Amino acid sequence: MDAIADSRSEGGKRVSVSDLKARKGGPPVVCLTAYTTPVAQRLDPYVDLLLVGDSVAMVVYGMGTTRDVSLETMIAHGTAVMRGSTRACVIVDMPCGSYERSPRDAYASARRVMDETGAQGVKMEGGLELAATTRYLVEHGIPVMGHVGLLPQRVSTRNNFRIQGRDEESWRRVFEGGRAIAEAGAFCLVIEGTIEPLARALTEAVAIPTIGIGASPACDGQILVTDDLLGLFSDFTPTFVKRYAEIGETIERAVSAYADDVRARRFPAPEHCYGVAPSKS
Ligand code: KIV
Repeated sequence: MDAIADSRSEGGKRVSVSDLKARKGGPPVVCLTAYTTPVAQRLDPYVDLLLVGDSVAMVVYGMGTTRDVSLETMIAHGTAVMRGSTRACVIVDMPCGSYERSPRDAYASARRVMDETGAQGVKMEGGLELAATTRYLVEHGIPVMGHVGLLPQRVSTRNNFRIQGRDEESWRRVFEGGRAIAEAGAFCLVIEGTIEPLARALTEAVAIPTIGIGASPACDGQILVTDDLLGLFSDFTPTFVKRYAEIGETIERAVSAYADDVRARRFPAPEHCYGVAPSKS
């Protein structure tokens, strides 16, 4: 646990956004998604940042994209993750439709997220077009994590997730967008689904930590969707996901054994019942 403890702020407090900002070029920042209290409890000792991602829409609610999750749902999951964590910095995704109209509108949504969950900041997807909103939120005391590259909220079907930066126009959009968000005051920047040299170049160009997902080992940190790395979400597995477990299969084995026991009247056994004398044998 020493390496973990080293990456934390002093005194057992939560990792703050300032701690994370200071990690530019330092030890890689470890990030994962979490949506529930029990999962947050498991991840909290090992990660620097827990993202309450709007990927919850697909992973937990079975929606086809991330676009239809509501602010209320994100707040409910943000609250659950805060309940289950004491150390990691918790950031909540602003859902599609809650921040694009104007900086003031975005502030009203973000204020609710901060006040109702107690999280340390919010994440918004977008580049140049979100620079003014990012600046406005930061100036009004709301820490912002940027997100450029592949933007799932702009994808209307699950077959349309495309790697960014393959042509000059796409490279420039992501690169300039990332720079603008960093200059607007974001404390860190997710780079998702880009060709590797673009993520590397953007990491070198900005003064804040970049957090890669399908991006580059040169990023200042990495994030994955926890359900992907655990083998719990298996509708599809992007190339950039490394599976560290097959929890989905473990669940099926356990549930199948339970079903067999119930059908064979092996469960519940006497030791699972109240008021049954222990057997003498
Ligand atoms: O919603 C999410 O889980 C995300 C991460 C993949 C970065 O935005």
